[in-house]
Amino acid sequence: MPSLKEIAATKGLLFGTAVNSGHVAKNSKLAETIRRECSCITAESDMKWTAIRPEAAKFEFTRGDKLAQFASDNGLLLRGHALVWHDLPAWAEAISAEDAETILVEHMKAVASRYEGKVGHWDVINEVASPNGLRDTIWLRHLGEKYIDLAFQVAKESCTATRFYNENRMEYDTWEMENKRKSVLKLLERLVSSGVPIEGLGIQAHLFPELAFSESKYSAFLKDVGALGLKILITECDVTDKELPADVAERDQKIADTFKQYLDVALAEPAVIGVLTWGLTDAYTWIKSVRPRTDGLPVRPLPFDDQINPKPAYQAIYDAIANAPAR
Ligand code: XIL
Repeated sequence: MPSLKEIAATKGLLFGTAVNSGHVAKNSKLAETIRRECSCITAESDMKWTAIRPEAAKFEFTRGDKLAQFASDNGLLLRGHALVWHDLPAWAEAISAEDAETILVEHMKAVASRYEGKVGHWDVINEVASPNGLRDTIWLRHLGEKYIDLAFQVAKESCTATRFYNENRMEYDTWEMENKRKSVLKLLERLVSSGVPIEGLGIQAHLFPELAFSESKYSAFLKDVGALGLKILITECDVTDKELPADVAERDQKIADTFKQYLDVALAEPAVIGVLTWGLTDAYTWIKSVRPRTDGLPVRPLPFDDQINPKPAYQAIYDAIANAPAR
């Protein structure tokens, strides 16, 4: 059977995962699995402000450089994540309105130019919308909405990577997510019509099996984004299994079904260029700490188990890619 990257390539799609340099350094089976299954990786945390800017006066590129080396050694497209985000080290939370633009631009230029030629996609901005418009962040408070336009402009001037806006919580029929989709579309329409150099929307797609998913509403949203001339990439797919039964076989089947139902709809949209999961193995997943099960059982949100053996979710992702129309 071909690997995920191989079946994806037959459709003109990317397949990949988020990963940290520390994970591949300590786990050779993970490194080997990434080489076999992935055409791209996202820097899970190695290129965030919290990693690169421990202090205002200090740039710390060690982890990011190691991940860039791993990507280049293995021919992987590397996705940088993220130049602008609200999750910041304490010193940056405290910057003044007066200094905000200078610090933002300086950070973006330093990081984007450091990884020029190494990072193929940048998540230029991450999680900037809210159901009511824009997320209240230090950047919005100090600079107003124009920080978004500025970020894309600075990215364009500093590197040749494809420029993405990455966003979360848009998949389901809840009040919050329906309105989030509206906010995101409104923002995208404004950016595109005013010539801001955005090239793609990254859709995180952290999935929740218990929420109602309208295939028609969701594909209409993807179509609207694609009609703006933007690429779409599914960037952080995983399945929270907090509300699922304890029984592993039953749970794994529900998780697989959740991936399959979502990816069948997403990959049917021609603007979608690929899918990445947020980690490959249950051994390293953020769900462990952010959404643990109340019964204390280990979470199983990803295509491989904690020993890096494929689970039903692997087959579900494979089948969804195999069923997708070729680009
Ligand atoms: C998460 C990482 O996976 C964690 O290890 C880290 O502690 C916090 O950040 N959306 C994003 C990612 O865009 O950057 C987040 O990553 C997960 C949610």
